[in-house]
Amino acid sequence: VAVLLRTGVLDVPGVDAVSVFAVPGEPLRIDGADALSGQLGSDLTGLAERQEHKGDAGAVLELPMSSGPLRRLVIVGTGDGGTVAWRKAGSALARRTKSDPVVALPLDAVPTDEALAALVEGLVLASYRFRAEGAEPKGSTTERYELVGTEPQLRQAVLDAALHRARATLRARDLTNTPSLVKTPSWLAARALDGAESAGLTARVRDERELAAEGFGGVVAVGMGSTRPPRLIELSYAPAGATRHVVLVGKGITFDSGGLSLKPNEGMVSMKTDMGGGAAVIATMAALRDLGVTVKVTGLVPAAENLPSGTAQRPSDVIRHYGGRTTEVLNTDAEGRLVLADALAYAVERLAPDVIVDVATLTGAAPFALGRRHAALYASTDDLAVELAAAAAEAGERVWRMPLVEDYRAAIDSRVADLANTGSNLAVSGGSITAALFLREFTGGLPWAHLDIAGPARSDSDEDEVTKGATGYGVRLLLRWLEGMR
Ligand code: BES
Ligand code: MN
Ligand code: ZN
Repeated sequence: VAVLLRTGVLDVPGVDAVSVFAVPGEPLRIDGADALSGQLGSDLTGLAERQEHKGDAGAVLELPMSSGPLRRLVIVGTGDGGTVAWRKAGSALARRTKSDPVVALPLDAVPTDEALAALVEGLVLASYRFRAEGAEPKGSTTERYELVGTEPQLRQAVLDAALHRARATLRARDLTNTPSLVKTPSWLAARALDGAESAGLTARVRDERELAAEGFGGVVAVGMGSTRPPRLIELSYAPAGATRHVVLVGKGITFDSGGLSLKPNEGMVSMKTDMGGGAAVIATMAALRDLGVTVKVTGLVPAAENLPSGTAQRPSDVIRHYGGRTTEVLNTDAEGRLVLADALAYAVERLAPDVIVDVATLTGAAPFALGRRHAALYASTDDLAVELAAAAAEAGERVWRMPLVEDYRAAIDSRVADLANTGSNLAVSGGSITAALFLREFTGGLPWAHLDIAGPARSDSDEDEVTKGATGYGVRLLLRWLEGMR
């Protein structure tokens, strides 16, 4: 779907539907309708009020047009006028107008840059549809939204930034929705390399031999049950004059069967999305230059397929991570932390970052605690937690900070290795917390945050800007955070 700016009034020729905005109040206000140059001639406010339209965010009233080229007029509520409400309005509009090829909206009736960005994100994100490779496209969707106003050039930069963030999110959705039959670790690496150069990135992909030779024992162990070998994807963005260096790490499990600690089928069907964190990192990296990010960023995605076989790792194996620390693998289904540990240790030892953020569909315990729409946020410093929560709020991606409970650390002690990958001797439960504590062991005391996105990385239904399947969660949060960094 394209979104573009145009000068003029909401001219009806060439447009299939027009949308105006309803702002709650006594009386209800309709914004943008004056730009219809009197072509409607009806009292829209009265009409909307008779239909009990209150202007609630995303509430839609559709008026079929009987004469003239315009097929419909849509009145969408903008609620309290905040970004959440405008994003909802954009999403509702996208769903309601998908059979109209060209839809026009009154740009001057969008009051702020934040509102415009949110509206555009809603339009683009809710229009998304995934079809597996080779499948026929289904149904029609809007070709383009035209935002029509008096001085559209003044808002071009805001529109462009919103489109970059939204398209990056769609890229993450595409990667995550791709079935694992296609999506091997090397496929994921190839997709990360597509367009990396034109996005101003340098890239390096380590194959299974290099991983073994350099001591990435976690990635190797998780990947060794599959005939499709693991990879470590490293993307770097180094703008001139950068003073700070951020490392992003994304879990890239291209399918998580659980390994020999096999999942039941109900838990396994959605596990093609277990690289959602890695997809968020790949998509974020590719959008940095377009969004004018000024800090240095390295993206690391350890990618492996977790399968049971005669060559798979066994519960009770002891593996050796990058840098030499050892883990007793008590449950092969706690594989995410094994590959992330290698990547974190590598970042600390070789990349000298100022801050590390990892994003991972790490534990079923996270959505169990917070529901499916919030990510669990862990941070080693309050400042970092505050910064990320602010970026999340701007992006409309919800996080909730969780505690790194020191007492629970003993749950991942091992008698035979430096750490165990699941709780054994201390039954504290709190699976998302103990997983975060495991990761913390590999962060070298640097400022570090962890987003457990097992809940919000995918959705079982279309809702607001989220579409069923992969959501691309994390991309807009990370981009907002990095855009704000100096
Ligand atoms: N990928 C899963 C976590 C997950 C669960 C993501 C549900 C999305 C939805 C992860 O690798 C996993 O299996 N975690 C285990 C850890 C346990 C064995 C300690 C879990 O959460 O059950
Ligand atoms: Mn698992
Ligand atoms: Zn997993």
